Amino acid sequence: MSRKVYLDHNASTPVHPEVVAEMLPYFAEIYGNPSSIHAFGREAREGLDLARERVARFLTVSPQEIVFTSGGTESDNFAVKGLAWARGNGHLITSQVEHHAVLRACRALEAQGFDLTCVGVDGSGMVDPDDVRRAIRGDTIAISIMHANSEVGTIQPVEAIGRIARERGIPFHVDAVQTFGKLPLDVDALGIDALSFSAHKIYGPKGAAGVFIRKGTKMVAVQHGGEHERRRRAGTENVAGIVGLGKAVEIRARDMHIEAERVTTLRDRLWEGVRARVPEVRLSGHPVQRLPGTVSLLFRHVESESIVLGLDLKGIGVSAGSACTSGNVEPSHVLVAMGVPLDWAMGAVRCSLGRSTSVEDIDYVVDAIEPLVRKLRQAMPVGAA
Ligand SMILES: Cc1ncc(COP(=O)(O)O)c(C=O)c1O
Repeated sequence: MSRKVYLDHNASTPVHPEVVAEMLPYFAEIYGNPSSIHAFGREAREGLDLARERVARFLTVSPQEIVFTSGGTESDNFAVKGLAWARGNGHLITSQVEHHAVLRACRALEAQGFDLTCVGVDGSGMVDPDDVRRAIRGDTIAISIMHANSEVGTIQPVEAIGRIARERGIPFHVDAVQTFGKLPLDVDALGIDALSFSAHKIYGPKGAAGVFIRKGTKMVAVQHGGEHERRRRAGTENVAGIVGLGKAVEIRARDMHIEAERVTTLRDRLWEGVRARVPEVRLSGHPVQRLPGTVSLLFRHVESESIVLGLDLKGIGVSAGSACTSGNVEPSHVLVAMGVPLDWAMGAVRCSLGRSTSVEDIDYVVDAIEPLVRKLRQAMPVGAA
């Protein structure tokens, strides 16, 4: 079977051909160090400046408020630690369903003496803004809540949380790695002071990302060295990658609305197709407040990894929501926080669609899932986990 269907766009995306074309000269022709003051350096600096303007335009912020980094993980670490360390001590609030880049950065701060509250979520993976309000203490120094969850796609009520943060004068960081370039992002309306984004989720290259830091937000650098990025992030910038990030976001600003509509239709076709043909399957995440291209499926009494590997044999790439370690099924921290029972969580499979996904791809995947799940269930004693 030669057909290949990639349904793992929340993990990474193919670089858009227009992005590749714009990046290419920055490898062998425009290779100067953007910090150098000669013409070679200035030319590279112009590429960085244009990318900064494009990102700033997308977020309707000032280019000076954009700091480039090496990835969403670095952006999250920088935002969370930078906000905390700038205040020295105090209390942080995050949620149980954050990406590990935020959760583990917060845990590391906790180990250093900061206090931490991880608010829970409901069965759809949604944070209740009132839980955030109740968690606030006199010494709360930062709130970090993601915009959309990468596993189940649930979009958090960041506007309501931003309003609460603003009322209390607490800096608000949002990990928008899964929404930047997919949904409109108005950082003023959402009350956001710091926002993480990454290029490789939006048809840009890996290793290029950034953080929006609202002017006046007290934040310290976490990486020390030269005077790059207005002393906020030391290290020679990944010029080609950042140029690609700028082009990728420009393309997304143009295409994201129409693509969100198209991908939502395909996403629903996938869910309806699977639901019609496979017994004991559920959709996880919020039914409506969800990323356009994300379908997280829970197949009862089947192991995630067996489905992922079975679909891989058919040329289909999806990702597992539970891992099998030493004979035990371990659901992801997101499914655990959502309270998904183990017999359902063990069979969590995420399909994330993108710009190249077609109706034929979706029908092919639905056709492949039904016999695979039937076969795996026959091979597995019911109730085994
Ligand atoms: C919500 C979220 N935050 C952060 C990251 C980390 O981004 P990167 O892969 O660019 O380090 C990811 C990647 O999957 C993500 O989905």
